[in-house]
Amino acid sequence: MIRDSYIKTVIEPFKIKTVEPIKFTTHEERARHLEEAGWNPFLIDAENVLIDLLTDSGTSAMSSRQWAGMLDGDESYAGSRSFFRMRDMVHKITGMKHIIPTHQGRAAEKILFSIVGGKDKVVPNNTHFDTTRANVEFSGALAIDCLNADGKKPEVIADFKGNMDIEKLEAVIQEYGVERIPLVMITVTNNSGGGQPVSLENIRQTRAVCDKYGLPLFMDACRFAENAYFIKLREEGYADKTPLEISQEMFSYADGVTMSAKKDALVNIGGFLALNDDDMAVHCRNLLIVTEGFPTYGGLAGRDLEAIAQGLEEILDEDYLQYRIKSTEYLGRKLTELGVPILMPPGGHAIYLDAKRFCPHIPQEQFPAQAITCALYLDGGLRAVEIGSVMFGRTENGSFVAPDLELVRLAIPRRVYTQSHIDYVIEVVKHVHDRRDELKGLKLTYEAPMLRHFTARFAIAD
Ligand code: F0G
Repeated sequence: MIRDSYIKTVIEPFKIKTVEPIKFTTHEERARHLEEAGWNPFLIDAENVLIDLLTDSGTSAMSSRQWAGMLDGDESYAGSRSFFRMRDMVHKITGMKHIIPTHQGRAAEKILFSIVGGKDKVVPNNTHFDTTRANVEFSGALAIDCLNADGKKPEVIADFKGNMDIEKLEAVIQEYGVERIPLVMITVTNNSGGGQPVSLENIRQTRAVCDKYGLPLFMDACRFAENAYFIKLREEGYADKTPLEISQEMFSYADGVTMSAKKDALVNIGGFLALNDDDMAVHCRNLLIVTEGFPTYGGLAGRDLEAIAQGLEEILDEDYLQYRIKSTEYLGRKLTELGVPILMPPGGHAIYLDAKRFCPHIPQEQFPAQAITCALYLDGGLRAVEIGSVMFGRTENGSFVAPDLELVRLAIPRRVYTQSHIDYVIEVVKHVHDRRDELKGLKLTYEAPMLRHFTARFAIAD
């Protein structure tokens, strides 16, 4: 990193070679689109969105080197050169012996939990992402979150709010019995908990519990590089280490990894399952062949493997990571200065509005985070995503069980939007916050039995 000490501005560490126009719409048009989408921004056509902060997944801008790699991809069915490049890069970072490419993260999860999950099984995690939880539960197993107490309090400022609650983890193992637990999982960074990092100390402690009970530790590593950079910034003893060295240490405590390459591999599609156990790898590859493809391409084209290999190299660049973490923090800091309640401190890939404090007049069973998400679209053409009662709320014995956190996630695609786009986002959020008392709760008019947030439809609550 070569920066003169008298310069404070953190700039995008790239210049733009290809551009894609975005379409402006009127308030009236957006009101119509929202109504047609049943008040669910997932169901709005992307071309009617001005700034799309729905997800940081698969939405990265690829570099010229990645695009060059796409042309150079080896499309051989078996033994593709691009696979070996991707395998070697993943091995360099994770140290894992077996690298199994999949079409995205959830495909890796599906294979893993088809093998280790099942009725009576229990899987602890700091916080399961929704697809991880769905794959655990689909196998018949129980998914249990063991998030540390600070992680559940949006206003608390702490360095590693994604950490596993080590005591709870041990209590879960003792309560259900070690024989029911096929593995422990830890998600870095903790997406559903606010994009908050997990410390190396916490990963080591989690490992120690796993060792005590003879359990494997798997890492959901979608945003491993962002996590590594937070460790560099915040954990004692790591300031002089490179993101690669920190990542290598993180993975050294794991027995396996699931990864959605759509995040920290800077690609539009891809993922992998990586693990050390030889027998389990055979089992995984057999399932891979049934659902994804031959083990040297999984669910991907050779060009995708090439782009992942290159993306994994670029994501560990310190200039990139500094820009990434600082630009997310910029959005969070400006919103905080305007009095908008957000989950603190800012996460790696997203800023999360705290809907309980933003709209205290809307009860959780009327989906305040969804109401804010809709208002952001209506007022400014922004698309965000609800991570609250729609995604994680449930009905038990006829009564509504609310999740701890009620959030609106503004996820920032990697290398896509400039600072002026973000300044526009700040203005829109401020506008919605200024008129927050006018926002109304919602009621469900349709919900699917699983992962309902993708397809649910709503109407204004009475
Ligand atoms: N694990 C985490 C922590 C994730 O954030 C995601 C995806 C997955 C697993 C699944 O990966 O989408 O490639 O199948 N998160 C996206 C998001 C969808 O918007 O946060 P996938």
